[in-house]
Amino acid sequence: MEKQKIPCDFLWGGAVAAHQLEGAYEKGGKGISIADVMTAGANGKDREITDGILPDRYYPNHQAIDFYTRFREDIRLFAEMGFRCFRTSIAWSRIFPNGDESEPNEEGLKFYDELFDELLKYNIEPIVTLSHFEMPLHLVRKYGGWRDRRLIGFFVTFAETVMKRYKDKVKYWMTFNEINNQSSVQNPWSGWTNSGILYREGEDVQTVLQQAVHYEMTASAITVKTGHEINPEFQIGCMLAMVPYYARTCSPQDELAAQTAMAHRLYYYGDLHVFGEYPAYMEAFRREKGICLDITADDLKCLKEGCVDYIGISYYMSSTISSVETEGSVKAAEGIYLAPNPYVEKSDWGWQIDPQGLRYSLNLLYQRYRKPIFIVENGFGAYDKLEMGKVHDPGRMEYLRQHIIEMKKAMFLDGVPVMGYTPWGCIDLVSAGSGEMEKRYGFIYVDKDNQGNGTLMRIKKDSFQWYKKVIESNGEQL
Ligand code: BG6
Repeated sequence: MEKQKIPCDFLWGGAVAAHQLEGAYEKGGKGISIADVMTAGANGKDREITDGILPDRYYPNHQAIDFYTRFREDIRLFAEMGFRCFRTSIAWSRIFPNGDESEPNEEGLKFYDELFDELLKYNIEPIVTLSHFEMPLHLVRKYGGWRDRRLIGFFVTFAETVMKRYKDKVKYWMTFNEINNQSSVQNPWSGWTNSGILYREGEDVQTVLQQAVHYEMTASAITVKTGHEINPEFQIGCMLAMVPYYARTCSPQDELAAQTAMAHRLYYYGDLHVFGEYPAYMEAFRREKGICLDITADDLKCLKEGCVDYIGISYYMSSTISSVETEGSVKAAEGIYLAPNPYVEKSDWGWQIDPQGLRYSLNLLYQRYRKPIFIVENGFGAYDKLEMGKVHDPGRMEYLRQHIIEMKKAMFLDGVPVMGYTPWGCIDLVSAGSGEMEKRYGFIYVDKDNQGNGTLMRIKKDSFQWYKKVIESNGEQL
């Protein structure tokens, strides 16, 4: 039998998001975004969300790695690695600085024209996320973020504007990055980054969350439908944070708790995107809790008409669920505790390293949805040392190698169609979670520290040559 091979049009590349690398937060007519009011945290210390930009705070996204002015130099390096695609986002506030204008900002549109042209010059396919944790701050101040139905219209106008403008340059789109991240309601950061929402004292968090999700899902579905009208060739996907929840033990209680976590934190979002309708378990949950939402018949029609073409996922780690409190566990909901997994190791940030979990995840998603899957984020955030002009990063190479091996098993042994693989933060950038620069993911080192000092010089790490070979050999040489 002939040896199975990765298809030759497989999309190898890298992934980033506008707010984490562009910088230039006020240039080119850009408005302030929700990422611009987040200070730098640290490993184990949350970022602060301030009321506007305060003079005595450090906001790492303001300059980030200055991709805005250096993108040509960086894309040359991506091309040298052989990237076939590059995933980034369009900063909503560059196109509509406040978010509710009727006319877009031409300078912002021009920037992405130049960026996409530069990619296409090297035959690098742009992969675009429309909303990646960076909505205009004005939409939060005036409307309360995605609490408000009017956000649907603002988002669709933004999406339609850029899809029309780049219809011959961009084929692959995703609507909302890691839309299910906000289900971790115990972490205030996630409501803010996904939806511009900070929960108010005394309000019912589940009602607010589910209302926002409904508006986002409706906006996403309208965008999918509109996008296909703009260009029938478009491939428009959702993007889910894929964290499979294993039961901590085989006790029926733990199994049920893990199943509930999967439903509420992942499938709820996937089911809406893929099937275009509310799953029974979520309707039952709402009934039981007495949650009433603003959902119209027209919304339900839109959901059904705007089902996604593929499933984009990030995969960094797995998680473990216990139905009872155990050593080191953290309560996530009633009867649901996130517990440490004794069988896997952790990164310096406590993220469980579990390559087999990627194969497991790909199978779960494909068996449920029967849609192609695009791994649009995977990676190893680690401390790197620049010594004598070199960065040796064997840990990163090993992490990626093991994950690619499991991805291939999912493709060859389990028959899962995977469209591409874009490791996260292919060039060092600002961490979304902690705001650190020193939580590094890149193949390219950027000389900048957590306090914002450094020359911003780019240096190829050892993993640069390694990944170049992986792409060159189409995933044969790992
Ligand atoms: C995903 C996000 O959650 O994980 C990225 O889509 C983020 O924006 C990435 O950067 C890694 O997380 P962190 O916190 O290490 O930057």
